[in-house]
Amino acid sequence: MEYIMHIFTIVTCILSLGSICEAGIADLVAPKKKIEIHDFRTELCDTDHTQDRLSLNNIRVFTKDNGDLGLSGDVNTTTFLYAPFKVRVTMKRKILGVYVKMPCVKDFGSCTYDDLCQYGYGTFSQCPPSFFLRRTPCRCPIDEGVYSIPEDVHVPMEDTRWAGIAKGSYRAKVHFIHKDREIACYLAYFRLKSKDE
Ligand SMILES: *[C@@H]1O[C@H](CO)[C@@H](O)[C@H](O)[C@H]1NC(C)=O
Repeated sequence: MEYIMHIFTIVTCILSLGSICEAGIADLVAPKKKIEIHDFRTELCDTDHTQDRLSLNNIRVFTKDNGDLGLSGDVNTTTFLYAPFKVRVTMKRKILGVYVKMPCVKDFGSCTYDDLCQYGYGTFSQCPPSFFLRRTPCRCPIDEGVYSIPEDVHVPMEDTRWAGIAKGSYRAKVHFIHKDREIACYLAYFRLKSKDE
C-alpha cells in the first residue's frame, strides 16, 4: 500500500510539473543552467477585447545575448492607472500533447499579482535616463498615453536547476484588472528551454 502511495505521489508530481515536490527532485539531480525563452508571441483573448482600455503592441520577451530576459514593445493606456493594478495569469504547459494547467510556484505559473505598481521604481528614486528620455513612467500612477518600453529594461536570469525541467511549450492567459474591471486580456505563447540545448 505504501509503495502504491509512493508511485501515486511521483505520478502526481510529474503531472503537475512545476510543483514543490518536483523542485525537490530537481535540486538533487539537475545541473544548473539558464532558462531561455523562444518564439514569444501574443494575441488578444478574443475579438471583444478590441475596445480594451489597455493595449499592448509588438510586445516581445526574449533572451538577450548575456542570458538575461529582455522586454520590448509599446503600451497604450486610455485609462489613468494607479495602485492596485492587478494581473491574473492562467498558465498551461504542453504535456504529452495536451495543455495542462500549472500551479503558481515562485511567482511563475498560474499566479495572481495583486498590484503591478509594486514592481515600479521606488518613490524616492529617480527614473533611469532611458525612461526619462522616452517619457515613459517608471512607477505608478500612469497617465493615459502611449509608452514604449526602454530597451535597457531586463530581468536578470540566474542559473537554475529548473532549467531542464521548465523546458517546453507554454500558453498563458493574462487578465489585467483595474478598479475591479478587466481592462485587457491577452494570450501569450512561448517556449522555454535551457541554454545550450
Ligand atoms: C490608443 O488606444 C486608443 C483606444 O483603443 C486608440 O483610439 C488610439 O488610437 C491608440 N493610440 C495609439 C497611438 O495607438
